[in-house]
Amino acid sequence: MVLVDTYGRVATDLRVSLTDRCNLRCTYCMPEEGLQWLAKPDLLTDDEIVRLIRLATTELGVTEIRFTGGEPLLRPGLTGIVERCAALDPRPRLSLTTNGIGLARTAPALRAAGLDRVNVSLDTLRPEVFRRLTRRDRHQDVLRGLEAARAAGLTPVKINTVLMPGANDDEAPELLSWAITEGYELRFIEQMPLDAQHGWRREGMITADDVLRSLRTRFTLTPEEEGRGSAPAERWIVDGGPHRVGVIASVTRPFCGACDRTRLTADGQIRNCLFAREETDLRAALRSGAPDGEIAETWRAAMWGKKAGSGLDDPSFLQPDRPMSAIGG
Ligand code: GTP
Ligand code: 5AD
Ligand code: SF4
Repeated sequence: MVLVDTYGRVATDLRVSLTDRCNLRCTYCMPEEGLQWLAKPDLLTDDEIVRLIRLATTELGVTEIRFTGGEPLLRPGLTGIVERCAALDPRPRLSLTTNGIGLARTAPALRAAGLDRVNVSLDTLRPEVFRRLTRRDRHQDVLRGLEAARAAGLTPVKINTVLMPGANDDEAPELLSWAITEGYELRFIEQMPLDAQHGWRREGMITADDVLRSLRTRFTLTPEEEGRGSAPAERWIVDGGPHRVGVIASVTRPFCGACDRTRLTADGQIRNCLFAREETDLRAALRSGAPDGEIAETWRAAMWGKKAGSGLDDPSFLQPDRPMSAIGG
C-alpha cells in the first residue's frame, strides 16, 4: 500500500516535526514573545514517533524521513529517535532541518546514530542583521554548527536562506561566494504566508527572479539540465560549475504537481500539504490502541484527499491555522 492521491502523486517523503518550540524568533516566522506551545502530554512520545515512522517505511512506501520543528535539536530524544529509525528495514534516508544552534555539540552523535545529512537555516553573514532577523544573538553558534556538521560528514550540508526587504536582500551574492568557499549548498527560499502573525504580503516578498537578478550581477548562472524530480529547489550551475545554487520558488513557481511529501506534526496530526486546512488525527488512533493496519489505512485516506496545489493563487486563499513552526516547514 502506498500513499497515493487522486492526482496520482505518491508520497515517499515524510516530514516529521519533533517540537513546535524554537530558540530563535525569526521575524518572518513568529513574534518576539513566542507562541502558545503545545503541552507535553499532547506531543507524541518517542515510541509513538518511531512506531509511525516504522509503519510509514515498512507499510506505506516512505523512503525519506526529514526531522523538522520548530527547532528539532530542542527535542531531548532526537538522537535515540534517529538511531531507532536507522535500524529499520528497509532503512529510510534520514535528514534534519535545523537552525543550527546546538549542532556544534550534537553533530558527531547524530552522525553516529545514523543521520545522513542536514539543512541549516542561515539568512545573513552579518551578526547584527542576524540579531535583527532572529531577535537573538546566536550567529556564531550557527556558524559553528555548520562547521561541525560538515566535519561530521552530514553532507551535503545545505543552507536555507530567506531574504527580507530592507534587512538582508542585498546579501545574495555575498552569501553565495561564502557558501561556495565553505562547501555548503545554498538555496534561497521565497517567503511563504505561514507566519504566526499573518504579516505576509505578496508585494513585500523577494521573489526567485529578484534573487537570480541579484546573483547575476556577480555570477553566471545556467539552469541545471538534470530533472529536479520532486525537489522544491530549482538548481543553477554557478560560473560553469561545479558549484550550484538553488531557489525554492514556492510562491511564484509552485512545484505542487510533483509533490511527494506527507507531514506529521509534533502532536500527531497528518497534513497532506503544507497549506492544508484539514488534518487527520493519528495520535487519537495510536492512543486508542488501534492496530498498525488501521493506522496505515487512516494515513492512506488522509493522503488520498490531497488537493492539487497550495491554493496560493486563488482569490479565496486562506492561510492555514497552524504557523510554519508548528507544521514543520
Ligand atoms: P532537500 O532538498 O531534500 O534537502 O530538502 P527540502 O528542500 O525539501 O527540505 P528543507 O526542510 O530544507 O526545506 C526547504 C524549504 O522548502 C522550506 O522552506 C520548506 O518549507 C520548503 N518546502 C519543503 N517542502 C515543501 C512543500 O511541500 N511545499 C512548499 N511550498 N514548500 C516546501
Ligand atoms: N516562508 C519561507 N520559509 C520559511 N521558513 C520559515 N518560515 C518561512 C516562511 N514563512 C524557512 C526557515 C527554514 C526552512 C525550513 O523554512 O528559514 O530554513
Ligand atoms: Fe525558529 Fe525556524 Fe521559525 Fe526561525 S524560522 S523562529 S529558526 S522555527
